[in-house]
Amino acid sequence: MFEKRSYCGELSKTDIGKNVILAGWVNRKRDLGGIIFIQLRDITGILQITVDPVKSPELTNILNDIKSEYCLLVSGAVKSRAKEAVNPDMMTGEIELTATTIEILNSSPVPPILVDTDEKIGEDLRLKFRFLDLRREEMKDAVIKRHMLMQSARAYLSSKRFLEIETPLLNKSTPEGARDFLVPSRINKNMFYALPQSPQLFKQILMISGFDRYFQIAKCFRDEDLRNDRQPEFTQIDLEMSFITVDMIIEIIEGLLKIIVKELLGKDIDMPFKRITYDEAMARFGKDAPDMRFGMELAEMSDIFAKSDFKVFASALKDGGMIKAIVFPEGGKISRKYIDEYTEYVKIFKAKGLPYARFKDGAFDGGIAKFLTEDEKNALTGRLKLKDGGIIFFASDSEKIVNDTLGNLRIRLANDFNIIDLNILDFVWVTDFPLLEYNIEDKRYYAMHHPFTSPKKEHIAILKNITPDNVNDIKAQAYDIVLNGVEIGGGSIRISSTELQNKIFSLLGISEEEANVKFSFLLEALKYGAPPHGGLALGLDRILMLLLKRNSLRDVIPFPKTARGQCLMSEAPSYVSAEQLDELSIKTV
Ligand code: AMO
Repeated sequence: MFEKRSYCGELSKTDIGKNVILAGWVNRKRDLGGIIFIQLRDITGILQITVDPVKSPELTNILNDIKSEYCLLVSGAVKSRAKEAVNPDMMTGEIELTATTIEILNSSPVPPILVDTDEKIGEDLRLKFRFLDLRREEMKDAVIKRHMLMQSARAYLSSKRFLEIETPLLNKSTPEGARDFLVPSRINKNMFYALPQSPQLFKQILMISGFDRYFQIAKCFRDEDLRNDRQPEFTQIDLEMSFITVDMIIEIIEGLLKIIVKELLGKDIDMPFKRITYDEAMARFGKDAPDMRFGMELAEMSDIFAKSDFKVFASALKDGGMIKAIVFPEGGKISRKYIDEYTEYVKIFKAKGLPYARFKDGAFDGGIAKFLTEDEKNALTGRLKLKDGGIIFFASDSEKIVNDTLGNLRIRLANDFNIIDLNILDFVWVTDFPLLEYNIEDKRYYAMHHPFTSPKKEHIAILKNITPDNVNDIKAQAYDIVLNGVEIGGGSIRISSTELQNKIFSLLGISEEEANVKFSFLLEALKYGAPPHGGLALGLDRILMLLLKRNSLRDVIPFPKTARGQCLMSEAPSYVSAEQLDELSIKTV
């Protein structure tokens, strides 16, 4: 029987009159006083099955036992539905199958979550019963689109001479960004492998080995705090190329993203994508992953308030800080309640308050309006191109706090008042990232991307006299790709000289000894004719989440972890037996 199986969703009017065999699950059962209907569901869709109780009394008996989610094998003839029974909302709504045999392959208890429902189901329940959740249309669609995304990426990259090469999952621990997940070695007592945070070092080694175009759909593991767009275990479309420029990489990735969007959404996107430098993104949007689907850009106000008597502004400037502002045009919508809420919200970004002023009937009103001089008012009106009814929000503090505050408030306002067109796909490259950043608290430099990123050639000289003040002047050959304000990928041209690599390690406070312990194989390999090379990794899960307009990575990963890093279905992580720990010479505390 199974050999001759057809698929529910693939039957259409052209199959009318044919006898077919179907297998699937009971989506719904309805008894319309005499005629019993079931909807049978398989991977392709749903088909209505009817049974005539007069002509097939034995089938009616079987049907009486059948409930939702029973697994059935059904045979019968495809028929057209009576005119009044046509369902235009269903793919197969013009046809149905009149069953001649029905076999119950397996039964099911009443499912704890409904598969056929549009109602919201608690996420914990969905994750616990993921095997049922994955039968739901929305999840099934995500899993199928995920497959399509991977296959189109593979086909495109293969056509561009990339080789798909696997790199190991059991690696040496070289924590740089996030914490490593460790795996104890039984044979090598007291030693640990680390799961890869990315295939970064191995893909560079592959370049040195002469595989000049590599890609991998790579599982990565990072033990970091989780959010809706961060999973401890996620997938990258990772690639690396030799003899390459930034522009060549950008062109290849744009081609890849164009094909992915076409495959998944049937949409054509324009190329080339926009580009913005890191400095400009920070100045105008307060973020290195700017959402450019709407305006409300940040505007610098420090010069206008250089002589301000308003204490908050004056003291920020005196401490070497800055003042910026954004304007929300529909100020009438911002009641006192919102002002209080936003004042509370910006505390997350360490803002001490949220000064504001309204612009109404050509005059300033409310908030800090009474502290503004005539000159300041005129300058504000001009620079912010104020229109009647707008409300201005200010931030005055260090550059970081100001950008964090207004960059996030801008997004919050846009979301609260639905001003973003959710049908836009806005791709933008952010280029010229600083190579390093200085942390005031522990007084040291950190790599903005990772320590293998090459500085721009013309900035290498500054490395000799680096100070916390000029560190931002040293730009890297690094770029991120951002979609609708979310970083979906990042990469760089790498350092291909041992000397420069050692110099960067030392700036990062990684001693020669430590570098040799952690990265000796890369440093050694770089000596043997390393080609100039670079690459990028795309976050596959994030791309899928954005293209399918889902709110969380959990909705595009078949078996994800919760915010506490647990799999509610398999109940990982779990305690292990004393014997297992003994074998590994591990004691838990
Ligand atoms: P990076 O760390 O920027 O670069 O990672 C690349 C992309 O991976 C995605 N991503 C994540 N997705 C889900 N959950 C996470 N926890 C998570 N962390 C990162 C993001 C990100 O843009 N080796 C370098 C790439 C390179 O230089 O070639 C790297 O891993 O979309």
